[in-house]
Amino acid sequence: MYYCRLYEILLFFFSLVLMMTNINSTTLSVENQSSSIHLRAPSFSGIYHTNLLSHSPSQILNKNENEMKLISKQNQLNPCNNGSYIKTNGTTCGLKEIMIGRCNEYQYIKRGLYLSNTTEIKNCTKLYELFESAARYKSYCNTNMSTYESYFQYALDGVHVINRALFWSGTYGLAHAYSNRGINYITLEDTLAAAMADGLLWCGKENDTEGFDYVSCPRNCKDNIWADDAFWGLASRTYAQKVAGEIYLVLNGSRTDGHPSFRNGSYFTTYELPNLQKTGQYRVTKMIVLLMHAPDQKVIEKCGEKSLRSLETIIRGYNIDYACKDDPEELILIMCSDQWEARECQIARKVLRQQWNIKVYGKSNTIYHSISFLFLFSIIINYFL
Ligand SMILES: *[C@@H]1O[C@H](CO)[C@@H](O)[C@H](O)[C@H]1NC(C)=O
Ligand SMILES: *[C@@H]1O[C@H](CO)[C@@H](O)[C@H](O)[C@H]1NC(C)=O
Ligand SMILES: *[C@@H]1O[C@H](CO)[C@@H](O)[C@H](O)[C@H]1NC(C)=O
Ligand SMILES: *[C@@H]1O[C@H](CO)[C@@H](O)[C@H](O)[C@H]1NC(C)=O
Ligand SMILES: *[C@@H]1O[C@H](CO)[C@@H](O)[C@H](O)[C@H]1NC(C)=O
Ligand SMILES: *[C@@H]1O[C@H](CO)[C@@H](O)[C@H](O)[C@H]1NC(C)=O
Ligand SMILES: *[C@@H]1O[C@H](CO)[C@@H](O)[C@H](O)[C@H]1NC(C)=O
Ligand SMILES: *[C@@H]1O[C@H](CO)[C@@H](O)[C@H](O)[C@H]1NC(C)=O
Ligand SMILES: *[C@@H]1O[C@H](CO)[C@@H](O)[C@H](O)[C@H]1NC(C)=O
Ligand SMILES: *[C@@H]1O[C@H](CO)[C@@H](O)[C@H](O)[C@H]1NC(C)=O
Repeated sequence: MYYCRLYEILLFFFSLVLMMTNINSTTLSVENQSSSIHLRAPSFSGIYHTNLLSHSPSQILNKNENEMKLISKQNQLNPCNNGSYIKTNGTTCGLKEIMIGRCNEYQYIKRGLYLSNTTEIKNCTKLYELFESAARYKSYCNTNMSTYESYFQYALDGVHVINRALFWSGTYGLAHAYSNRGINYITLEDTLAAAMADGLLWCGKENDTEGFDYVSCPRNCKDNIWADDAFWGLASRTYAQKVAGEIYLVLNGSRTDGHPSFRNGSYFTTYELPNLQKTGQYRVTKMIVLLMHAPDQKVIEKCGEKSLRSLETIIRGYNIDYACKDDPEELILIMCSDQWEARECQIARKVLRQQWNIKVYGKSNTIYHSISFLFLFSIIINYFL
């Protein structure tokens, strides 16, 4: 009887050691595994929304060059009806179908994520027709900021973005990763009117059966600077008029292009800032600036300095409260996931690794040993008492 019990204890002790060894080897092999797998760091370098000008389609469509056929500007046929994919500098093929499809998707699939206060469903066909009547058969260089007015009026009718609006300037990728397609915050690009056109290219063509130029669109219009901002300028202005309560602005405090964080000439400064509602039920009450400093780069400006001070003066002049925060952790983590190898991020990664090892594999081995020893000791004592 006594012998039997001793045997049991030994067996128990043995299996415990075995268990610990197993845990150790699992930990080791997992560590070894994770150090030999090289995942791609996530990338947020997004495509800018601008219809034309600042981002050429060759930048947007620069993958699989070999599979694309370039066509000459002289080709009068609509390259969209060619039957195989052709890279052009003109209107995006399938513009109408894409826009109507996106409109339906936005309203019937994604609607819970966005402006859940609005229950009204917009007529997607009507919305596209408003867009088309503004652009089709019209020469691109004759457009201006009143061209798309009825489109935006209808698309944003009844919409109020309260306490969730997020603006950005010089931080497109980060701001959109953070807004998370309208789940966290709502950027201009998360609204119906802008989502329908984001990343698309178009230009009308006079006296043409198609009414759109599918071969090439002008890069800029020398005689009419407003043509380039006709769509996105008005989009920005209309959106700014629809935001209320506390609004957020993500700025770049480590720009290396010589521009200040808050600069003249940006969409934000030109179209959004002056159009914020300063009075009424849907007025903006507070602006919260999130000023980000890129990993491994010099800090050019901090909250309360230089151009941030000019911004504060303007905002307070509008009788809107102002707050500015340098590098909130939520955004630092997103920046680090995009700049995986940066020095400041490596340190954060090490700390995270440690925390996750404790979470998944328990405490470090020394602590594990003493705990298991205590546990075993108490069992043995109990057994013999
Ligand atoms: C567990 O691993 C550590 C080193 O990581 C080692 O010192 C220890 O002896 C191992 N324990 C067992 C039971 O193998
Ligand atoms: C991973 O395994 C190899 C041998 O397979 C060994 O040389 C190396 O030290 C291990 N790395 C870690 C982090 O345990
Ligand atoms: C498509 O375009 C290519 C090059 O311009 C041309 O050779 C081909 O015949 C066209 N195909 C059709 C179906 O139009
Ligand atoms: C499109 O524009 C780019 C830049 O201006 C130019 O290099 C390219 O040849 C153009 N492609 C076509 C198909 O015209
Ligand atoms: C939106 O909904 C919230 C509650 O869900 C309500 O307090 C607010 O007044 C609504 N806003 C509008 C514009 O209807
Ligand atoms: C949507 O708009 C189109 C074009 O304006 C119209 O023909 C259609 O009847 C409208 N649909 C609804 C459900 O109102
Ligand atoms: C915009 O263009 C239209 C037609 O080309 C013109 O009637 C209108 O005056 C222009 N508006 C502005 C603000 O330039
Ligand atoms: C800020 O600007 C710097 C330099 O132009 C750039 O490297 C960095 O990615 C930008 N930061 C963000 C959040 O976009
Ligand atoms: C289109 O047609 C009208 C009238 O026939 C003419 O005045 C105009 O110059 C034409 N436009 C273009 C771009 O060819
Ligand atoms: C923008 O330009 C105006 C004058 O046009 C000037 O007073 C202001 O200081 C400038 N602001 C910034 C941020 O550069």
